[in-house]
Order: sequence, then C-alpha cells, then structure tokens
Amino acid sequence: MIEIENVRKSFGSLEVLKGIDLTVQKGEVVTIIGGSGSGKSTLLTCINGLEPIDSGRILVDGTEVHAKGTDLNKLRRKIGIVFQQFNAFPHLTVLENVTLAQRKVLKRSRAEAEAEAVKQLNHVGLGDKLKVYPGRLSGGQQQRMAIARALAMSPDYMLFDEVTSALDPQLVGEVLDTLRMLAGEGMTMICVTHEMKFAREVSDRVAFFHKGVMAEIAPPEQLFGNPKDTELQKFLSATH
Ligand SMILES: Nc1ncnc2c1ncn2[C@@H]1O[C@H](COP(=O)(O)OP(=O)(O)OP(=O)(O)O)[C@@H](O)[C@H]1O
Ligand SMILES: [Mg+2]
Repeated sequence: MIEIENVRKSFGSLEVLKGIDLTVQKGEVVTIIGGSGSGKSTLLTCINGLEPIDSGRILVDGTEVHAKGTDLNKLRRKIGIVFQQFNAFPHLTVLENVTLAQRKVLKRSRAEAEAEAVKQLNHVGLGDKLKVYPGRLSGGQQQRMAIARALAMSPDYMLFDEVTSALDPQLVGEVLDTLRMLAGEGMTMICVTHEMKFAREVSDRVAFFHKGVMAEIAPPEQLFGNPKDTELQKFLSATH
C-alpha cells in the first residue's frame, strides 16, 4: 500500500504540493486529474523518491521513501513508472530494451530476462516486434513497449504519467486498452490522465488536483456525476 501523509513540496518560492493526503490500497486504481501545473507529476516523482519532499511522509509497504537509510534502489524496484515521452534506446531492439534493466538492476540471467521480456511484450500485444528497433514502432507501440519494460521488472505498483498525451488520437485507444487490462488484472496503479472517459471507467477513485491541493477525491460516478468542488465543476465543464 502507498500512504501519502500531509506531503508538502516547494520549488523555490512556489509551493506545488500543499499538504497531500492519499492512501492507495493494494489492487486499487486511482486516477489523478487536474489542470496544468497542479502538482500531479510532482506527486508521482515524490512517490518513487525522484524528488525530495519538504514535510510529511510517503510510505510504500511501510517503508518511508524519504527517510535517511531507505534503500531507494530497492524501493524503486517495487514501483514501475511510465512517462508521457518514450525513452527507448534507439540502437537496441525491442527485446533488448525490455531485457536491459532486468539484467543490470535485477541481475537476471539473459535467458531469464528474455523469457520475461517475451512474456510481457506478448502481454501488451507486441510479441511480433521483438527484433524490431524502436524507431520502427508507432507511438502507441513505443508506449506499450515502455509499459512492458516496466512490467518486466515485476513491480508491485505502477505509476503512469499522461502516457497517452503525446500520441496521435488514433493511437490513444490501444494504450488505454493496455492500462485497462492491467487494472483488470489487479495491478495497483496511480494514473495521471486527461482522458476523462478512461478515468471514469477504470478508476476505483478519482482525485482532482488544483493548485497543489487535492480538492476532491471520490469514486468516479460521484466525482464526475456530482462534483462538489467548484474548481472541479469548472474543470469538468471545460474538458467535456
Ligand atoms: N524541477 C522543477 N523545478 C522547478 N519548478 C518545477 C519543477 N517541476 C515542476 N515545477 C513546477 O511545479 C508546478 C507543478 O508541476 P507539475 O509538473 O507537478 O504539474 P502537473 O500537474 O503535472 O502539470 P501538467 O498537467 O502540465 O503535466 C508547476 O508550476 C511547475 O512549473
Ligand atoms: Mg504533469
């Protein structure tokens, strides 16, 4: 489980997280929506310890992420993260891209890492692209490769930061279908997204961020059907 307790964070004089509280249970899918600059990406980078926090705490399976003495490398192995932009190694095949971190970080043997890579690439529908270079993949395929690469590390949690927002509209669906599949399999996920229909369908709870505050959090029927926060009401009427 991920426990976020009264987390505050500033960049210089700008406070971007103003006391965030959120607990994500095992198997839960929480999506985060909200305007640009509201702190969504910052929260994800704090959860896996890429960014320090100013106060409060974040616990992952009881381990405090920002405590002195926490083994961040060990902790990050539990948490897969996929970003908006693809960061594949262009000179490595799809199979090699999905194998590399398993070998380097998890010290898996080549055979073991390749078997896991093939399994996860099949899982996201790229079983026929093993020997292809990433430059030959469509944007949606590249993003599915990034998801396969994260899954191959056997994470307990997956964080997705607007994984479809750099894609052409016709490629968004295949990536959202992959996320839906993972949610259906019981993966614990936090997804930052601008895809409201997806958020409504897949989430156990949806959180609305506004200017560093989690202004509302509720099951999707409630959050979309009967939003209480006035900023959320404005946000939803602007995005519909
Ligand atoms: N490394 C950084 N240094 C300084 N300011 C930053 C840094 N990262 C983010 N910020 C600022 O913090 C605020 C929150 O940024 P964040 O990326 O978390 O927003 P977001 O909700 O993910 O927005 P978007 O929907 O545009 O991705 C923004 O004002 C941003 O400019
Ligand atoms: Mg962002």
